[in-house]
Amino acid sequence: MPILANLAEPLVVGGLSIRNRVFLAPMSGITDEAFRLRAHAHGAGLVVSEMVASGELAKGRTGSERRIRRPDIPVHMVQLAGREAWAMAEAARIAEGEGADIIDINMGCPAKKVIGGYAGSALMLDPDHAVSLIDAVIGAVKVPVTVKMRLGWDEGALNAPLLARRAEASGVSMVTVHGRTRCQFYQGKADWRAIRRVRDAVSIPLIANGDVASGEDAVAILEHSGADAVMIGRAHYGAPWVAGSIASAAAGSPTPGLPDIAALADYVVAHYEAMLSLYGVDAGLRQARKHLGWYLDRHAPQISPETRRAIMTGTEPAAVIARLRAAFAGAEVQFDKEAA
Ligand SMILES: Cc1cc2nc3c(=O)[nH]c(=O)nc-3n(C[C@H](O)[C@H](O)[C@H](O)COP(=O)(O)O)c2cc1C
Repeated sequence: MPILANLAEPLVVGGLSIRNRVFLAPMSGITDEAFRLRAHAHGAGLVVSEMVASGELAKGRTGSERRIRRPDIPVHMVQLAGREAWAMAEAARIAEGEGADIIDINMGCPAKKVIGGYAGSALMLDPDHAVSLIDAVIGAVKVPVTVKMRLGWDEGALNAPLLARRAEASGVSMVTVHGRTRCQFYQGKADWRAIRRVRDAVSIPLIANGDVASGEDAVAILEHSGADAVMIGRAHYGAPWVAGSIASAAAGSPTPGLPDIAALADYVVAHYEAMLSLYGVDAGLRQARKHLGWYLDRHAPQISPETRRAIMTGTEPAAVIARLRAAFAGAEVQFDKEAA
C-alpha cells in the first residue's frame, strides 16, 4: 500500500528533516524525557515535550526545567502553553537557549486548569489573540514554530482551517490537528475527515491526530485527512514503541529495540529505573505508577489483583522490581496489532 510506505519518508519542517511521518504526541505527565528517549529509540519520527506553562518558565519558577531540558534526541521539540504574549515569547527564548529545535504552541488542551487561563483550546475562541501569540513567539526565536490545535471549540465553531491559514501567514512551519472539538474532550471518535478542511486551507506540513492505534489507522487517517504525517498519543500507554513500529513496518524493517517476551521485564524495569533517576525516588515512584499499570494491563493481564496492587503501591524500588520481574515472566508482548 503506497500510503503506508509514505509514512517512512522524511518530512521537512521549517528546514529541519524529520526522519519519518509517525510522531509521538505530547502528553503531559507521560511523555517526559524517559518516555521520549524510548519512543525515539524505537524509531518515532518526532517526539514532543509535555506542555510547559510559559508563565511559570518566564517567571523563573522551578519545575519546568525538566520539561525543556534537551535529551539526546536529534530534534528537540518543546511545547509551550499560555495566553500572554510576553510570557510566550520569553519562554520560547528560554527553550531555544536550552537547545529546542522547534517550539510548538498548544492551542488544543481542553483542561479547565489550562483554559481557565484562556490558554490551550480556549485560544481557538479568539483567533486574533491566538495569532498575536504566534507572532510574539515567531518574533522571539530563530527556530521553527508550530501549532497544535483541535477542530474548534465546538460543533458550531469549527475554525481550525481559518486559524491554521492565519498561522501559516504568520510563518508557522507545521500545524497538527486533533480531530475533535474542545467540547468533546476525549469523547466520541476523532473526525479524521474534518481534518481535510485544514488540508485545503494550508500548504505547510499538516499532521493528523486522534484515535490512531495501528498501521491501518495511520493509513486511514492520512487517506481521510490528506495530512502529511500522523501523531499518536494514548496508544503508547504501556507500549512506547507504537509510533516506531508503525514507521518501521512502513519501511519494511524491524522495529529498533522492540523487546521480545523474554526481555520485557528488563525493558519495564529499565523504564522504571530511568524514571526514578529522572525525578528522584519519591516523585519517581509516583510518576512511574501509571506506566507500570499500563505495562501490566497490556502485557501481564493474568496477574492477580493483589500482585498488581503491591506493584502499584510499592515504595521500595527493589521489591517493586522483583515483583515486576515475576509478573512479566511468561507475559506476551502485545505489539503485533500495532505494527499490522
Ligand atoms: C494524558 C494526556 C495528556 C496530554 N497532554 C497534552 C499536552 O501536554 N499537549 C498537547 O498538545 N496535547 C496533549 N494531549 C493531547 C494529545 O497530544 C493528543 O492530541 C490526544 O490524546 C489525541 O490523540 P490520541 O487519540 O492518539 O491519544 C494530552 C492527552 C492526554 C491523554
